[in-house]
Amino acid sequence: MGLDCSAAIPLTKFGTTLDEMRFMSPLGYLLLLATAGALPAAPAPSPGRHVRVEELLRQMTLEEKVGQLNQYSAGQPTGPGTNRDRYETMIAAGQVGSLLNVTRAEQVNAYQRIAVERSRLHIPLLFGLDVIHGFRTIFPVNLGLASTWDPALVEETARVAAEEAAAQGIRWTFSPMVDIGRDARWGRIAESAGEDPYLGSVLARAYVRGYQGRRLDNPTSILACAKHFVGYGAAEAGRDYNTTEISERSLRQVYLEPFRASVDEGVATIMSAFNALNGVPASANAFTLRDVLRGEWGFAGFVVSDWGAVGETIPHGIATSEATAARKSFLAGVDMDMESGAYVSELPDLVRSGVVSRQALDESVRRILRLKAELGLFENPYAPATGTAAAQPSPESRRLAQRAAEESFVLLKNGTPSSRSEHPSPILPLVSKPGRTIALIGPLADSAGDMLGCWSGQGIPDDVITLRAALAQRTAAAGMHLRYAEGSKILGNDQSGFDEAVRAARKADVTILALGEQAYRTGEAASRAHLDLDGPQQKLLEAIHATGKPVIVVLFTGRPLTVGWAAEHATAIVAAWFPGVEAGPALVRMLFGDVNPSGRLTATWPRAVGQEPLYYDALNTGRPTPPASEARGPTFTDASRFTSRYIDERNAPLFPFGYGLSYTAFAYSATSAQASKVSAAAISAGKASLAVSASVTNAGKREGTEVVQCYIRLTGTSVARPVSELKGFRRIRLAPGETQKVDFILTKDELAFWNIQMKQVVEPAMLQVRIAPDSAQGAPVSVVIEP
Ligand code: NOJ
Repeated sequence: MGLDCSAAIPLTKFGTTLDEMRFMSPLGYLLLLATAGALPAAPAPSPGRHVRVEELLRQMTLEEKVGQLNQYSAGQPTGPGTNRDRYETMIAAGQVGSLLNVTRAEQVNAYQRIAVERSRLHIPLLFGLDVIHGFRTIFPVNLGLASTWDPALVEETARVAAEEAAAQGIRWTFSPMVDIGRDARWGRIAESAGEDPYLGSVLARAYVRGYQGRRLDNPTSILACAKHFVGYGAAEAGRDYNTTEISERSLRQVYLEPFRASVDEGVATIMSAFNALNGVPASANAFTLRDVLRGEWGFAGFVVSDWGAVGETIPHGIATSEATAARKSFLAGVDMDMESGAYVSELPDLVRSGVVSRQALDESVRRILRLKAELGLFENPYAPATGTAAAQPSPESRRLAQRAAEESFVLLKNGTPSSRSEHPSPILPLVSKPGRTIALIGPLADSAGDMLGCWSGQGIPDDVITLRAALAQRTAAAGMHLRYAEGSKILGNDQSGFDEAVRAARKADVTILALGEQAYRTGEAASRAHLDLDGPQQKLLEAIHATGKPVIVVLFTGRPLTVGWAAEHATAIVAAWFPGVEAGPALVRMLFGDVNPSGRLTATWPRAVGQEPLYYDALNTGRPTPPASEARGPTFTDASRFTSRYIDERNAPLFPFGYGLSYTAFAYSATSAQASKVSAAAISAGKASLAVSASVTNAGKREGTEVVQCYIRLTGTSVARPVSELKGFRRIRLAPGETQKVDFILTKDELAFWNIQMKQVVEPAMLQVRIAPDSAQGAPVSVVIEP
C-alpha cells in the first residue's frame, strides 16, 4: 500500500516541490524566497537539508525509521497514564521521534542531548506541547479569543505564544483546535472558535500564521497542528470522546472547512481525532485522512494521532490487536503515534511481512524528518533559553493579553437601574464618583487560577491580576469604596457566606457579581449535562438581587450557560470567558468605560439545555414555526401546533450567534446589492462577483467598534441550505456621528456549496444577503443567481 505523494506536492507555501528544492543552489533558494516576497530575517534553509533527509533515509534501519513515528509523553500526562520510565534508553536506541509534555529548556536539552549525541544517527527530537492560548503569558481562552472577531489580534497572541514556547525548545504546538463546537455541553467548546465554519476558518489561518511565522527555521517559529481531524466537536449529546454521525455534505461544508483553511495556510501538522466518524474511528479513517486530506488537498505535512488514539481503535471495535490497530491507523494515513506505542512495537513486523510497504514507511518518516529539517533542528537542536523556567510574561506580552481580554468581553445585557431620574442611563459604564461604594461579590472575583482557563500552558496563578485586585486599585485611585465578599464557592451547597455578601450589597451603590465555571470544569473530559450556574451561585445571585440594588453579573465561563433568570433580573451581564493574566485590569477598564466592549458571541447561548445542539446556521425544516407564534413563546393551543418547536420552550436562543452590545449604538442602513441578477457560470469561472454594502452609523455618544457581519441565504438549490450563513465580517471603529459604508464581495468562495452531486459549485438560486449586527437581525436584499 503506497502513500507516495512526495515529489509533486508543494513543500513550502511558495509552491516549490521537494525535488525542485533538492536541486536548487543556495542562491536560487534565496531568490525564490525573495520573489515570493518573504525574504526572512533568519538564514534561509539550505536545500542541503532535504538532501540530508534523503541520506538519512538511506542509512536508517527499519527500527530507526519506525522510531521516528513514535511519540511519548515525558512530563505531566495529558491523557491516561502510562508508567513508562525508560525514555533515555529508548531515545538512545532511536525509538523515539518526538516527546510531548516536556516544558523546560533544561529538560528539553537533556533529552535532546541523548538523541543528538548518543543515538546512532544523531537525529534530533521534536518537542511538542499543548500551547493553546499562550505558553507563559496566558491570553483569553480560545472561545474568548474568537469573540474578538479580530484575526490580526489572534495571530499576534499565537506569535507571542510561539516565541515563549520556542525559547524553551518547544517547536511544535498542538494548536489550533479548529473543531466546530455547536453544543455547549461539550467541554472543549472552550478551546474552539465556536460554531461557525467561516469564522473558524479565518481564525484557524490566523493561528497558523502566528505560530509558524514566515519561516519555520526562524528560531521563534513553531509547527502548528490543526486538530482534531475530524468531527470531534459533533460528539453525540456533547459527551467528550463520543461517537459522531455526520453526513458527507455536513462534513465537507462545516467540519472540514477550518482544516482546509489551515492546510491552505500551510499548517505543518494535523492531529487525528478520538471519535468514531460514521462508524470509522477518525484515527483510522482512510476517507478523511487519505482521500480528502492528502488526495484532495495535497497536505504535505505529517499527521499525529491524538493521545493513544491508535490503540483506541481496539475499544472502538475495529481492531482486535495492537498489530491491527497499528496497521489500520498507519494505512489510513496517521504518520505518528502519540502515546499508544503500537507503531513502535508492531510496524517493524508489518513492514517485514509486506503488509505495510517500505515505500509507505519511508514516506511517513520523510514527512517528519523534513519538518525537523525545516525547523533547523539538525543545525540547532537545543533550546536557546538559559534559565530553566519560562521567563515572566514581558510588559509587551501583558499589554497584548490585556487588549485581547478587552476585545473578548461580550456585553450581553446593559439595563437601566430603577431610578427617579427622567433619563436614566444604562448601568454600564460605571461612573467614577468619589464616595460611591461598589460591592464585589462572588467566587470568581479573586480566583487567580481560574482566570487562566483550561489548557493554561505554563501560566501560573501568580501572573494573574484578578478583578478584585484591579478593582481595589481603581476604586482607591478614584476615592471610591470597595466592599468584597466571596459569597460562596463555585461548587457545593454551602450558603454560609451569603449574609456577609448581602450586607456588602446593601451598603453599596452597585454590586459586581463574579460568577461562572471553575476553569477545570471546561476543556477536555469536562462535558456537562446541566448548563446552569454551578453550586450555590444561582441562589447567591437571587439573594443579591433581592437587595434591590443594581447588580452587574460578570460570567467567567468556557461555554454558553443557561442564564435565563439572570438575563431577566440582573441589571447587566458580561460574558468575560476566562480572560487570562490581565483579567482584572481589562475588566475594570471595560466596566468603567475606558474601553467600549466590542466582543461578539461565536457560540449560541441557549435558554435550556434541551435545545442543544443549538446553532444559527440550521436548516429551515418543512415546518418552521411562524415568527409570531415563536414570539408568543411555548403554547399548546395555537395554530402552530404542528410545527418544528418545543411545547415548553421557545426555539430562539437566549443570545444569538454574533450578538454583543456596545456602550454606543450602531444604526444600519438597508443592505444593497450592486446588481439584482448575477450569473452562476460567471461567478464559478471567477469572471463575476457580487458586491453588497450597507452604511453603519455610530448613533450614540461614544466612540465604539462594531463587528459588521454579512449573512447569506440560498433557496431553490439542489439541497437545502441553512437559513443564514456568515460569509464576511469587518471590525470598524466609528466616532460618534460617523458613518462608514461597508462592502463585502461575494465570490465563488462564498456562494459555492456542496450540492446534490457532492460537488462544490455555485448553483442558480435565489440569494438573500443581509449585513447586520448579528445573526438574528437585519432585512435581506434579494438577488437572482441565474444559470
Ligand atoms: C489529548 C487532547 O485531545 C489533545 O487535544 C492534546 O493535544 C493531546 N491530548 C496531547 O496533550
